[in-house]
Amino acid sequence: MKAAVRYYTKTGNTKRLAEAVAKAIGAEALPISVPVDEPVDILFLGNSYYAFSIDPEVRSFVASLDKNMVGRIVNFGSAAMLNSTWKKVKAEADKAGIPMDEREFHCKGEFKGIHKGKPDAQDLAEAADFAKSIINVSSGGKKMKALVTYFSASGVTAKVAKRLADAIDSPVYEIRPEVPYTAADLDWRNKKSRSTLEMSDKNCRPALADKDAPVADADVVFVGYPVWWYREPSIIDSFLAAYDFSGKRVVPFATSGSSGIGAEAPQRMREITGAEVDAGKRFAAGASAEELKTWAETFLK
Ligand SMILES: Cc1cc2nc3c(=O)[nH]c(=O)nc-3n(C[C@H](O)[C@H](O)[C@H](O)COP(=O)(O)O)c2cc1C
Repeated sequence: MKAAVRYYTKTGNTKRLAEAVAKAIGAEALPISVPVDEPVDILFLGNSYYAFSIDPEVRSFVASLDKNMVGRIVNFGSAAMLNSTWKKVKAEADKAGIPMDEREFHCKGEFKGIHKGKPDAQDLAEAADFAKSIINVSSGGKKMKALVTYFSASGVTAKVAKRLADAIDSPVYEIRPEVPYTAADLDWRNKKSRSTLEMSDKNCRPALADKDAPVADADVVFVGYPVWWYREPSIIDSFLAAYDFSGKRVVPFATSGSSGIGAEAPQRMREITGAEVDAGKRFAAGASAEELKTWAETFLK
């Protein structure tokens, strides 16, 4: 994880915050006149409000950033009255094609006699803690490595899975059957369709197209699928049986017409993997990145 710190300051307040942030993560606090010319995962960007907006220099700095050099921007700053410059910076970051971390540090800053002494020692300590928590060194805790896997027959779960993987910055792997499901295979009204036959046999393990999922690299494996007959499709069982999940945490998630995720799927997933399997969650097809991220991050701490 490589991080850099840039700031824009008029009164020195943001500079002091930048120095606290930089010290906490072992980087150097540099003004925005110094270009980012080495790739970084995170750019901590300190800025403030002046006459209800961010300074034009901050705008042009963000506009000048190369999206191939900056993984994401983490905003921090202080202001006398307004609470956050996040939206203003995000508008510029969007134009530059650079993701903006949703977390930000903001505190009051002294201006014309208001908020005297701010940011104070406590603000600086909080800014430092914030920076550490962003790069996950705060509690000495190592961040869990995630892998999002999914099976999707008609594309609904695929969209949710990709949104989730994007939101938590995880690799994503599609579980594919060796023989793809045709529309006729998916006809749940037909008692003889492939899906009906497979789902009526709880020991059915359809063959997988490959065994390339990078499960070994992950601590937490999210397993997404469409609910079929109130549980996980048999191809999910094949996937779980094909890898070593010992010591890993398995977290199911699903989409469905209306059914919940149920208790049967996680229980079977426990039996197959011998791993810790969470109860999981069913999401609507349109579940937002934010909803998915908030949910997923509870497993990654
Ligand atoms: C064979 C089959 C069985 C299904 N069984 C259920 C079910 O028990 N409950 C439910 O709410 N939806 C059920 N559905 C609907 C799917 O769960 C839903 O359309 C899902 O979002 C499809 O995801 P996908 O596009 O990723 O395949 C079933 C669909 C199929 C094809």
